[in-house]
Amino acid sequence: MLKVTKAVFPVAGLGTRFLPATKASPKEMLPIVDKPLIQYAVEEAIAAGITEMIFVTGRSKRAIEDHFDKSYEIEAELEARNKQKLLDLVRSIKPSNVDCFYVRQAEALGLGHAVLCAEKLVGGSPFAVILADDLLYSPTPVMKQLVNTFNHYHSSVVGVEAIPREHTAQYGVVDGREWEEDVFKLSGIVEKPAPEVAPSNLGVVGRYVLMPTIFDHLRALKPGAGGELQLTDGLQSLLTEEQVLAYRYMGTRFDCGSKLGYLKATVEFALRHPEVKDEFEAYLQNHLPQALAAAA
Ligand code: G1P
Repeated sequence: MLKVTKAVFPVAGLGTRFLPATKASPKEMLPIVDKPLIQYAVEEAIAAGITEMIFVTGRSKRAIEDHFDKSYEIEAELEARNKQKLLDLVRSIKPSNVDCFYVRQAEALGLGHAVLCAEKLVGGSPFAVILADDLLYSPTPVMKQLVNTFNHYHSSVVGVEAIPREHTAQYGVVDGREWEEDVFKLSGIVEKPAPEVAPSNLGVVGRYVLMPTIFDHLRALKPGAGGELQLTDGLQSLLTEEQVLAYRYMGTRFDCGSKLGYLKATVEFALRHPEVKDEFEAYLQNHLPQALAAAA
């Protein structure tokens, strides 16, 4: 059986929506409570059985490489101070069975182009794509749900969720028929359609499991929505030749590419964080009415 062991993380984007925070450091390193977005994404991949992490990076992204590298200074310091728990935490960021690879996307030509940059590292196996901006919370990690679906049907799968119709222009939107509960057989997929022409209200979230045949289609891409080489257009081309599925995942999504989504994620994850949840909840309960009144 073709096993999904590789994940591609396109992390070359500039993150202009978070300037000035992202002027010199990557948006994927923004923390939700105490963990950077990219680490949530890598942990989701690990939970799905993936062991090879391929980062498609760009300028100002060195912090991502450093994050998944050994830090001699920090480890020596924590060891000297006998901080075993913190030492374990730092060492667990990249488990020893996980390997990280990096490839540069020299020009920001679009998501389809970013994925194509990983072709040589991916080779001929099926692979996952994870957009770290989309932080997904679920008792069963969402990439695991997608890999399970892939293992069952052996065809490319894109993660989707029901979105408000007025938001279709922010997403890839799929056309297809429900085949089994939450699994759709695609007849089309379109990037950022206006609500009047969107084929459905199922929007693509940043989770994909793709057959390596996608690369043939990515190589032939022409600029699409926003003048960019779109992964969505590659999928549209792929589905004319082989089956492509959409899977409506179980879970909650936080769009951490937007300030509002990022703030919502921070609150929700803080309310679940063992170290701060009790005090944070008490803080919200006691001070929120005052804070809201003061802001009004
Ligand atoms: C990208 C994809 C889009 C998808 C979205 C999910 O768009 O092109 O199809 O729906 O991610 O987050 P972006 O948000 O990068 O514009």
